[in-house]
Amino acid sequence: SSVAAFVAALPKVELHLHLVGSASLDTVLTLARRHPDGGVPTDRDELRRFYAFTDFPHFLDVYRRVNLLVNTGADVVTLLDGLAAELATRAVRYAEVQVAPVRNHMAGIGYADLAAALTDGRALARERHGVELGWVFDADATLGPEGAEETVDFAVDHRPEGTVAIGLGGAELGVRRADFAPAFRRAVEAGLHSAPHAGETVGPDEVWAAVTELGAERIGHGIGAAGDPRLLEHLAEHGIPLEVCPTSNLRTAAVRDIAEHPLPALVAAGVPVTLATDDPGMFHTDLNAEYLLCHEVFDMGIAELAEIARTGARAAFCPPALRDEII
Ligand code: HPA
Ligand code: ZN
Repeated sequence: SSVAAFVAALPKVELHLHLVGSASLDTVLTLARRHPDGGVPTDRDELRRFYAFTDFPHFLDVYRRVNLLVNTGADVVTLLDGLAAELATRAVRYAEVQVAPVRNHMAGIGYADLAAALTDGRALARERHGVELGWVFDADATLGPEGAEETVDFAVDHRPEGTVAIGLGGAELGVRRADFAPAFRRAVEAGLHSAPHAGETVGPDEVWAAVTELGAERIGHGIGAAGDPRLLEHLAEHGIPLEVCPTSNLRTAAVRDIAEHPLPALVAAGVPVTLATDDPGMFHTDLNAEYLLCHEVFDMGIAELAEIARTGARAAFCPPALRDEII
């Protein structure tokens, strides 16, 4: 359709995707065959079934296992090369990648090696694919406040070029955003932006906590804000964007039916909304598909889709010159 052609050519940024979750099926098969005892299928059809998630905790468990297959700096560079090639084909000029250094460290990658791999992969993305990358260091709430402190240590001590923000993925149930306030405070004092996940699978209270306790300048998902008019007003008034990932929400069963997804309500409330894929390899999606979903399911036209792309560029923690080029 003409909308598909418009979206394909539209210069975009992508502000929410995880390094390991971006790996293509082929890449994960290669890694799984290298480590046949890692609990990840080595057969293509089986791997597809492995990626059928029953709920969010199930997804996090699968994510953890695939993460453990990424053992070397060279693996990280391979993932970034594949990711940048994919982004380039979708007219994505700039992307912020969520990297969970403590998880990579648990899989056997030394912190200095990780920093070097990120620097190499970023140069390669720029030179080979024309894609600029930034890093959001994901403290992974599943690893608790101690893991968050270790994440900030990595970001501050190594600070690879392109470091832009501290993030907070992982579990939400049974975890409180407020417990991560000291780590976030330290990261912000060191000059990092604050971009935690909040309200992916829980309600508005944790989105409030992300704003008031973690100083969130942007929020990953944030769809749980939809039930709280006062919170929506706050996000709109203070221009705090939500990185909305509709296909992800469907695949992890955070949302039961795409027709009930709160995205249109968030836009209608004046909240800045950007679109992202979260874990495109695991959710079998790409950024253009997310834009087209908004056209097909929410009846958004070309002007509204272009506005979402501009909102993304404005919300990006990238050099202003690059932002201006994209807008
Ligand atoms: N949410 C939380 N943690 C994650 C995600 C997500 O969408 N993807 C990878 N780790
Ligand atoms: Zn995420």
